[in-house]
Amino acid sequence: WRVDCIVGARPNFVKIAPILRALKAGGFSARLIHTGQHYDRAMSEVFFNELQIPEPDIDLGVGSGSGIAQTAQIMIGLEPVLLAERPDMLLVVGDVNSTLAAGLVAAKLLIPLCHVEAGLRSGDWTMPEEVNRFVTDGLSDLLLTTEREAEETLLREGIPRDRIHFVGNVMIDSLLASLVRAPSAEATLAAHDGALAFRAEAMSRGFGLVTLHRPSNVDDPARLSELLETLAEISARLPLVFAVHPRTRARIAENGLARLLENRLILTTPPLPYLQVISLMKSARLVITDSGGVQEETTALGVPCLTARASTERPITITQGTNTLVGLSTVALKNAVMDVLENGGKRGRTPELWDGRAAERVSARIGDYLTDRAKSK
Ligand code: UD1
Repeated sequence: WRVDCIVGARPNFVKIAPILRALKAGGFSARLIHTGQHYDRAMSEVFFNELQIPEPDIDLGVGSGSGIAQTAQIMIGLEPVLLAERPDMLLVVGDVNSTLAAGLVAAKLLIPLCHVEAGLRSGDWTMPEEVNRFVTDGLSDLLLTTEREAEETLLREGIPRDRIHFVGNVMIDSLLASLVRAPSAEATLAAHDGALAFRAEAMSRGFGLVTLHRPSNVDDPARLSELLETLAEISARLPLVFAVHPRTRARIAENGLARLLENRLILTTPPLPYLQVISLMKSARLVITDSGGVQEETTALGVPCLTARASTERPITITQGTNTLVGLSTVALKNAVMDVLENGGKRGRTPELWDGRAAERVSARIGDYLTDRAKSK
C-alpha cells in the first residue's frame, strides 16, 4: 500500500519524522509531499536534517500568503499530483493550513484520509487552526487522537466511533528519540552570537525560554508591545531566551519595537533548530509560549509552562501536565512567573500513551483500516 504524507509547517516536520519511520517498518511505501508553507532554512530544512526526514518527493512551493491564498494554492498544486499517482491513503498531521488544504483535496478525490492529532478543540473560532481542526476531522476516514477526551469531542460532533482510535502523541515520539542527541543548554547558548554575558547569567541564575507567534499575540501592535514590556520586566528576575518566529520578527520590525528587547538579560535568537529548542526547554526553569506543541513537550519534560493564550486545545497538559493557561493578562503572566520562581511551579505526570511509540500505533491502525477496506470491496 502507498500512503502519501503531507507536511507544510514546522510542527508538521516534528510529527512526520517518526510516522515515516514507522510506516516504512510496517511495510508501507510512503511518499512525502511538502507544501512549501514554511520555506526558510531555519523553519524547514534544518528540521529535515536534524530529524533525519528524507527529502520530500514533491515540493509544491506555495510559500507565504494569506491563509486563504495558501490553502487555495496548496489545493491547486496537490490535485494533479494525487491524480497522477493515486495513493491508497493520504495522511495529514496537526492543524496548519497545509493540513486542511490537503484534507479537502483527498476528500474531493475520494482518497481515504487519515488525520493524526484529531479531536483537539480550543473552542476559539478566531484561531485559524480551530477551523482547520474541525473541518479536517469532518473530512477524515481515520481519526487518530493524542488524548482520550478528543474521542468524546469527536463523538459529540457526530463522527462514527469506529473511525476514531487513541494512539498517543507522535510529537513526543520525536522528543524522546531526540533528547539523547540534544546538546547541553550551555552549548546551545554558546552557539549564539553575543551570548557570552547572557550565558554567564543564565548558567548561574537559570533561565526561561520564550516563544510567541500567534496572530492574536503578535499582529496587534498594542498587544505585542505590552507583551515585550512584560518580558523585559520578567527578565529582571529570570534571564530569558526569546526564539523569535519570522512572523513575530516582522511585526516587531514594522512597529519599531526592537528597542523593547535591547536588554542584556534577554537573548533574542532566530527560530532555533529542533535539538537546540529541546536542549533549552529541558533545562529551563519555565517556558512562556503560545505554541501548541510546546505545551505538550514541556508536559512530557516536566517543565512548568505558562501559556499566554485565552484557551488551549490541549486540555490534558493542564489537567495532567505542567501547563498553566495564563490568559491574556500580562499581570497574570508576571504573577505566574513569580509563583514558579518562588514555589517551583506545577508538577505533572506524563499522559497515557505519550510513551515514544505512538507512530507504531499510527502505522498499525492504517494497516487495519486498509485491510478492512480491501476485504469489504
Ligand atoms: C503556522 C501555523 C501555526 C503554527 C506555526 C508554527 C497556520 C494557520 N498556522 O503559523 O499553527 O503554530 O506555523 O510555526 O497554518 N514566514 C517566513 N518564513 C517561513 C515561514 C513563514 O518568513 O519559512 C513568515 C512569512 O512572513 C509569513 C508568516 O511568517 O507570511 C506567517 O507564516 P504562515 O505559514 O502563514 O503562518 P505561521 O504564523 O508560521
